[in-house]
Amino acid sequence: MPNELKVFSGGANTALAREICDHIGIPLSRLDTSRFSNDNLFVQIEESVREKDVFMVQSLTQPVSDHIMELMITLDALRSASARRITAVIPYYSYARSDKKDAPRISIAGRLIADLLKTAGADRVLTMDLHADSVHGFFSMPVDHLTAVPTICDYFAKTLDLSRAVVVATDAGGAKRAGRFAKRLNTSMAIIDKRRISDSDVKQGLVVGNVKGRDAIIFDDEISTGATLVTTVETLEKAGANKIYVGATHPVLCGAAVQNLSSSSITEIIVSNTVHIPNEKQFSKLNVLSVAPLFSQAIQRIHTGESVSDLFK
Ligand code: R5P
Repeated sequence: MPNELKVFSGGANTALAREICDHIGIPLSRLDTSRFSNDNLFVQIEESVREKDVFMVQSLTQPVSDHIMELMITLDALRSASARRITAVIPYYSYARSDKKDAPRISIAGRLIADLLKTAGADRVLTMDLHADSVHGFFSMPVDHLTAVPTICDYFAKTLDLSRAVVVATDAGGAKRAGRFAKRLNTSMAIIDKRRISDSDVKQGLVVGNVKGRDAIIFDDEISTGATLVTTVETLEKAGANKIYVGATHPVLCGAAVQNLSSSSITEIIVSNTVHIPNEKQFSKLNVLSVAPLFSQAIQRIHTGESVSDLFK
């Protein structure tokens, strides 16, 4: 059937892709990915995509370069196989933190990946909670930018007494994002002054806003090494905060994140499943909410030409 919707998945997060397909009510389409002895990847689409509306799901998680290359080769194979339209579904867009030229002789890699996606054959992109809204502008094709904010907010609204709550942004860059969270929960907010010393070391100073005696809900786009959260907890405790909760869209959880966060005084950490968390990285205070229903609705709306922003009204 021409214009039929098909969903494929790379190896980064097949569980999420399967869940998306279950919500749509279609099987996950088949492709074969293998690696030659010389480490070159081989991807073959195992069913016809001629004139089909194809969605290729791949989160850019570790090993990041492998997953990017797998995505590019699959997009190229889909285009060569005469797909009518190809949407790269990238629940977690890595390299989005490389979004500005803030040192001499560096690449804005977030823009480079956007260019490569177009070259490989993507006609549009569907993604979630980019590190900065400006990253959206790196793409010279339509981008639908979903957010896990309502999903995470609604969980806190149902489970917490918010009468003494304050939403906290870990740095000035995250203030707008945390502001949306605070608005939805109808709480006040606080912003902390943060400097990143290195990949896994941050320092914080001034807390702007009242956190004393309040239950703090820290909201961030991603948890990478966990350094930001560990430091934010210390800062909030010094400032007299009561219980501390965390909401973050992307649980990248690299380096010593699991060890540091599981032994921290955080009461509960709510994340989404944009990034697959293997069993060895799960810990008791980490609670994963699925964004598969949201992605499945967005995919169906893109397929039928309905508004995606209406999903958030
Ligand atoms: C930084 O600007 C981001 O919003 C996150 O705070 C950051 O990516 C978290 O990284 P880490 O967990 O390594 O501190």
